Amino acid sequence: MSDDEVRVPTGVGMTAIGVAAIRAHESRRDDRLFDDPLATRFLAAAGWTAPTAAEIEPRRARWRMLLVASIPIRTRFLDDYLRAATDAGCRQVVLLGAGLDTRAYRLAWPDGTRLFEVDLPDMVGFKNAVLSDVTPSCDRVPVIADLTDDWPTALKTAGFDPTAPTAWVAEGLLVYLTEEQNESLLTDIAALSVPGSHLALTSLDPGRLDAIRERHADGPTHSVVRLWRSSAPEDPVAWLARYGWRATAYDPAERAASYGRPNLFDAFENPPSSRGLVSAVRI
Ligand SMILES: C[S@@+](CC[C@H](N)C(=O)[O-])C[C@H]1O[C@@H](n2cnc3c(N)ncnc32)[C@H](O)[C@@H]1O
Repeated sequence: MSDDEVRVPTGVGMTAIGVAAIRAHESRRDDRLFDDPLATRFLAAAGWTAPTAAEIEPRRARWRMLLVASIPIRTRFLDDYLRAATDAGCRQVVLLGAGLDTRAYRLAWPDGTRLFEVDLPDMVGFKNAVLSDVTPSCDRVPVIADLTDDWPTALKTAGFDPTAPTAWVAEGLLVYLTEEQNESLLTDIAALSVPGSHLALTSLDPGRLDAIRERHADGPTHSVVRLWRSSAPEDPVAWLARYGWRATAYDPAERAASYGRPNLFDAFENPPSSRGLVSAVRI
């Protein structure tokens, strides 16, 4: 792979590289909640190097500690969700804003699973270039589309079957879209979901979003926070019910304890939303 084949995503795409850095970090732990060996490839291709402790401004260090604590919990939660959805019969999976998610490679999928990864052109190009010599464990279909535009047509053109039960994932995505765009996204997902479909998402409630924005209004973390467009509604269960989903919300702290990491968020002033992890079934 030559350098000119790999164009590193910029703008909102940078956030996916940050997530890969956290997953690489988690994968080095003896008690890791998942193993993502491909994450380091993205970091190398992006020229990412971990800042030294001396280089990290205190607010940024706290921020990074919170991400290091919380992103593995949501990743493991969604790994388990996808295993349950495929056990329930879904053979079609759609990762919305897939970024550098490597589930197509690192999870053991049932035969016949087709997994669509929807993201912006620079992200899909970067990921395809970096993973060009790696074989996925399912039928992986990258889809270039803007989720604020007519992405359902792009998905169907790529082979998505709207008559088949689907497992959807929107991980670390909704905050980068406006409220109107998220309502439109849920309308489109509902129109493409037959009964027996599943949906999971991560959400940030309005109070936390405002508190984090205020705390990081300036300084180095501002570059990420200023990309945030909206919070999810306070009650994600009621929100999803409006679109025909029976949802359950989970507290990341409770999930973390169930994975053997009790009291994980006690030291943070802005811990994840207590209803921040959501999974739902189409009714
Ligand atoms: C924080 S990353 C999360 C990536 C992935 N879901 C994960 O958890 O590893 C956000 C992702 O959303 C994608 N994204 C943001 N806005 C988008 C849009 N309008 N259309 C498609 N993808 C978008 C970005 O390119 C990026 O890959």
